[in-house]
Amino acid sequence: MTRIVSFPESGVDLGALHCAMLAAFSDYVVPLQPDADTFKAALRSRGFDPAASFVAVDDGEVIGFWNVATRNNQRYLIGSGTRISHRGRGLASRLGMAAIRAAENAGSESFWLEVIEGNESAERLYRKLGFEVTRKLDCYRLDHPSPDPSTCERSDFGTVANAIQRYSTWEPTWQNATETISGSPLTSFLHEKGGAIVGAGGLVHQIAASDLSALADLLAAAATVGSLTLVNVESADSVLCSLLQELGADRFIVQYEMRLSLPNLS
Ligand SMILES: CC(C)(COP(=O)(O)OP(=O)(O)OC[C@H]1O[C@@H](n2cnc3c(N)ncnc32)[C@H](O)[C@@H]1OP(=O)(O)O)[C@@H](O)C(=O)NCCC(=O)NCCS
Repeated sequence: MTRIVSFPESGVDLGALHCAMLAAFSDYVVPLQPDADTFKAALRSRGFDPAASFVAVDDGEVIGFWNVATRNNQRYLIGSGTRISHRGRGLASRLGMAAIRAAENAGSESFWLEVIEGNESAERLYRKLGFEVTRKLDCYRLDHPSPDPSTCERSDFGTVANAIQRYSTWEPTWQNATETISGSPLTSFLHEKGGAIVGAGGLVHQIAASDLSALADLLAAAATVGSLTLVNVESADSVLCSLLQELGADRFIVQYEMRLSLPNLS
């Protein structure tokens, strides 16, 4: 018999959740097969909340999951999946409803998630559960034609965080939020004219600048560490998106951020 229970009630461990994740994402629209350490680190940095997360367990095996994070009064779906042989039987719907009910009972205000354009089954599921699109997001890979650090200096995250806050016109998504990234070893550059870029291992988490030329300089400086990946650039940021395209960046994924506004039960 299949049980839908919160992660702590299930008695399974993170190793079992990792196995289920690898199986459920084995036919995903993009390759996503992290090793156990990377999977656990991603859960930890995003704020995985075991009591807010639900699993479907059948005969001791995790066959479906909704891995959820909590921060303040917000919830975020880190990942959801159902093993291939168990799909189309309403498991993800039941897991989603359980996670939403738990969020409402905890007094959360909103539930957030991202879904890749073209993942029709997931998008239909989220719409069915009441989620609505808040914004479109682009993901780029950039092999910069001319890396150049000369107009920027390396700085600490505290300093660049202020500069980014000053010049940003949009909020980073959950995975690039300051709370998510602040525990990682970060590389940051500050521009002499105002603005900054922060990332880790070629992944750009946040970038904002006073003008287009400063933005271009920051990308050139960051590219001195190697090729860059920018996940979840707001598509409405036409200045940054046009600059990336001019530099020859490849837009490899389009995503939608979705939000479910939760009723106040108190
Ligand atoms: C998306 C996923 C979690 C759905 O799991 P599931 O347990 O099969 O989902 P359900 O049986 O509860 O179906 C939920 C809804 O999804 C949609 N859906 C499910 N399978 C579908 C399909 N093959 N085509 C179109 N819509 C589909 C339907 O709207 C369905 O509701 P309905 O049956 O009332 O119309 C599963 O396909 C999966 O693990 N995919 C790979 C990993 C992934 O993409 N995760 C989401 C990342 S954002």
